[in-house]
Amino acid sequence: MTDPFKEIEKYEEFLRIKPLYWDQKAEEFVWLDTRLIPFEEVYRRTKDYKRVGEAIRSMEIRGAPAIGVSAAFGMALAAKYSRATTLEGLLGDLEDAKKYLASTRPTAYNLFWALDRVWKRILEASEKGDLEEVREAVLDEAMRIYVEDIKNNVEMGRIGSKLIDDGDRILTHCNTGALATAGFGTALGVVRYAWYEGKKIHVITTETRPVLQGARLNVWELKKEGIPFTLITDGMPGLVFMKGMADLAIVGADRIILTGHTANKIGTYMVALAANDNEKPFYVAAPTSTIQAVTDPSEIVIEERDPDEVRKVMGKYPITLPDVNVYNPSFDITPPKLITAIITEKKIAYPPYIKSLRELVSP
Ligand code: MRU
Repeated sequence: MTDPFKEIEKYEEFLRIKPLYWDQKAEEFVWLDTRLIPFEEVYRRTKDYKRVGEAIRSMEIRGAPAIGVSAAFGMALAAKYSRATTLEGLLGDLEDAKKYLASTRPTAYNLFWALDRVWKRILEASEKGDLEEVREAVLDEAMRIYVEDIKNNVEMGRIGSKLIDDGDRILTHCNTGALATAGFGTALGVVRYAWYEGKKIHVITTETRPVLQGARLNVWELKKEGIPFTLITDGMPGLVFMKGMADLAIVGADRIILTGHTANKIGTYMVALAANDNEKPFYVAAPTSTIQAVTDPSEIVIEERDPDEVRKVMGKYPITLPDVNVYNPSFDITPPKLITAIITEKKIAYPPYIKSLRELVSP
């Protein structure tokens, strides 16, 4: 088996932005607090898995792949710093940690995928009955998930860039860049790859109410890369497509099921409608770890967040009266008929998704 701590060195060139990592010397998990971006770049660190859960819940860390990878490192912290002296005690602590981390955000499938994968490794390692072996295995698995995420993103970028032409104007919604993953990004990773290949593209990003992942995080990432962009409000994609100002849309996903139904940031469905009505491609880019192997869209849990996210900007500036009734679902579901293709690290899946996605996830 390869050493993930060595493997990561191969991807340094793609990690101009390092959103999260394991500090081997301090034996701590480190992440960039995305709530403060674009105004401040503050890294936070912890040895406490509960703090990781809190960071996910409060959206210091957000974006489905970043949530999954961080939860895996949360498990590594739980294993490393558990005071248990027996295998049963350690497994009990790890079960508690898994439950706690799984409760942080309900839609991001990568969270459950990563926790299940770590759990499988824990069970394998515990067969020998050695506590130290289990502790090391959890960190090793978390590191593997971390490195794979970056590797998959770069691969998705390479594959997806084939769909982007020189001169394309690309509309995106929510942040799917380095800040939403272990590094490089999914949909924004495709954009980034096309830019690295020398394609002269222009990004149109929505602001992405209510948490403003577009206005804050995309703007910060695109500026850092020097990729030209225009910021629009969430109500504008219809007009932008109608006026012929965008050539395609590309977004990420929090959860995709085998039928192709895709849960992503609230407003994605409207972007898909606008692109389709104007006969422009609407692409989804996501690693296969985002795909849940079920066929019933009602299995997709849609997170509803604090109404104050809508009443105030960034929890600080009120934009309405304090007691107004609010509906604040964090995600919507785009039906497969509106999705031109789904870009993954393995290949581009085309309709009918029930066939192409099933092929992708079957072992
Ligand atoms: O609420 P968020 O910021 O976690 O939502 C993020 C999204 O909707 C992203 O598009 C999705 O997680 C894919 S990130 C590569």
